Amino acid sequence: MLARSFLMATERRANPLLLVLVFLLIGAGCGGGSGEADDGLPTQDAALVQSGAEAYAANCASCHGPDLRGTTQGPSMLSAIYEPDHHADIAFLLAAQRGVSAHHWRFGDMPAVAAVTAEDVAAIVALVRETQRLEGFEPYPP
Ligand code: HEC
Repeated sequence: MLARSFLMATERRANPLLLVLVFLLIGAGCGGGSGEADDGLPTQDAALVQSGAEAYAANCASCHGPDLRGTTQGPSMLSAIYEPDHHADIAFLLAAQRGVSAHHWRFGDMPAVAAVTAEDVAAIVALVRETQRLEGFEPYPP
C-alpha cells in the first residue's frame, strides 16, 4: 500500500526520475530480492561510492578520466576489458600498489599510486563497479 500511495503521489508530481526509482524498487521486490540490476552487477553502497568518487578524482582521474572514460594518458574504466570477469576487484589494489606494465593498451605503464590506502581502493572499486552497472561497457578493443 505504501508503494501504491507513493506511486500516486509521484504521478501527481509527474517527476520522471521518481517514477523510474519507484519502478526500480518494485522491480527489485519482484525479482526475488537478488539485489542485481542491469549488467548483472550488484548495486554498490552509495556512501562508499561517494567516498570512492573523491579518492578517484584525486588519484586516478588524471589518467582514467573524470568520467572514467579515459584520457590520452590512460584507458577507460568502462572498457569491457575491465568487467569483473576480466579484472577482478583485487586487480585495482595491485595496480595502485605495484603499478601496471602496459599490456592491454598503448598508453605506457601505470606508475604505482602510493597516496591511496587499501580502503581508498575498495571505495574506488565501488565507484567503478557502480558506474559500469549504470552506464554499461564500451567494446574492447575500442
Ligand atoms: C599516470 C596515469 C595513471 C594513473 C594516475 C592511474 N592509472 Fe591506472 N592505468 C594507467 C594505464 C596507462 C593503464 C593501462 C596499462 C595497460 O596497458 O594495460 C592502467 C591500468 C589500470 C588498471 C588495469 C590493471 C590490470 O591489471 O591490467 C587498473 C585496475 C587501474 N589502472 C586502476 C587505477 C586506479 C584505481 C588509479 C588511482 C588510484 C589509477 N589506475 C591511476 C594509467 C594510470
